[in-house]
Amino acid sequence: MKKFLVIGNPIEHSLSPKLHNFWININNIDAVYEKQKLEVDKLESLIFKIKEKKIEGINVTVPFKKIVIPFLDKLSFEAQKTQSVNTIYLDNNEVIGHNTDIDGFELGIKKFKFNISNKKILILGAGGVVSSIIFALKKMNVSEITISNRTKQKAEKLKDLFNSINVIEWGEISNFDMIINATSVGLKEKDELNLDLSLVGQNKFFYDVIYNPKETNFLKVGKKLGNMTENGKFMFIYQALSAFNIWHGFRPEINEEVIKIFD
Ligand code: ATR
Repeated sequence: MKKFLVIGNPIEHSLSPKLHNFWININNIDAVYEKQKLEVDKLESLIFKIKEKKIEGINVTVPFKKIVIPFLDKLSFEAQKTQSVNTIYLDNNEVIGHNTDIDGFELGIKKFKFNISNKKILILGAGGVVSSIIFALKKMNVSEITISNRTKQKAEKLKDLFNSINVIEWGEISNFDMIINATSVGLKEKDELNLDLSLVGQNKFFYDVIYNPKETNFLKVGKKLGNMTENGKFMFIYQALSAFNIWHGFRPEINEEVIKIFD
């Protein structure tokens, strides 16, 4: 039986096992997908299990997406450009790190009636997932990407990877077509960003990477102000689908039952 894992810390709330095991079972694949909470000093020995063929594939989540890089033999183009790895597999006896968060964001956005090309985008946050979002936005030909992070220095650091981005002060919100919450603010129901989101204007697109809770205060406020809102559910589903495709060689179906996992 093939074994797959998602590693992170914390990991309790990850929905990856449910999603992957649903696809594994419905397609009669002899495999199991588990979650494992990890301390950073165990990372190297765990990754080695891929080489030993004891583990077939690993998904990586917060806070290991960058820290894992030195333990891999090779990075895909996307993982290299974003310095972020969420999917690991063995190819020709080499441990490869890839990034399917980019696909996740791109395919997730394409589900919605929002034509993103030539739009001005504001991203709140500069954490682990932001380099993937920037990469995907550039691929989708947006006109301008601006980052605002509480710790400005961390946003400035992203310029090392993407020199065309703008960095502004935290909360310096003006007129954008789409605003993305990529901070961890909202994971707790009561979390508030304490920003004046009315400055974004109306009829814009408020997108939250968070999918649990389903509607963060950021989305609630966006909706109240007369904007289109979506959470990160499809980004999550599509990053998983892309990883599944790498490991199992085909794209599984997103049916009603898949969607129900998130209800
Ligand atoms: P990491 O930074 O380790 O990659 P993350 O969960 O991916 O972790 O990122 C958390 C993001 O949420 C960061 O951009 C963080 O801002 P800082 O860089 O200033 O820490 C942001 N964040 C977390 N709590 C916040 C808060 N109360 N207000 C504003 N931004 C916050």
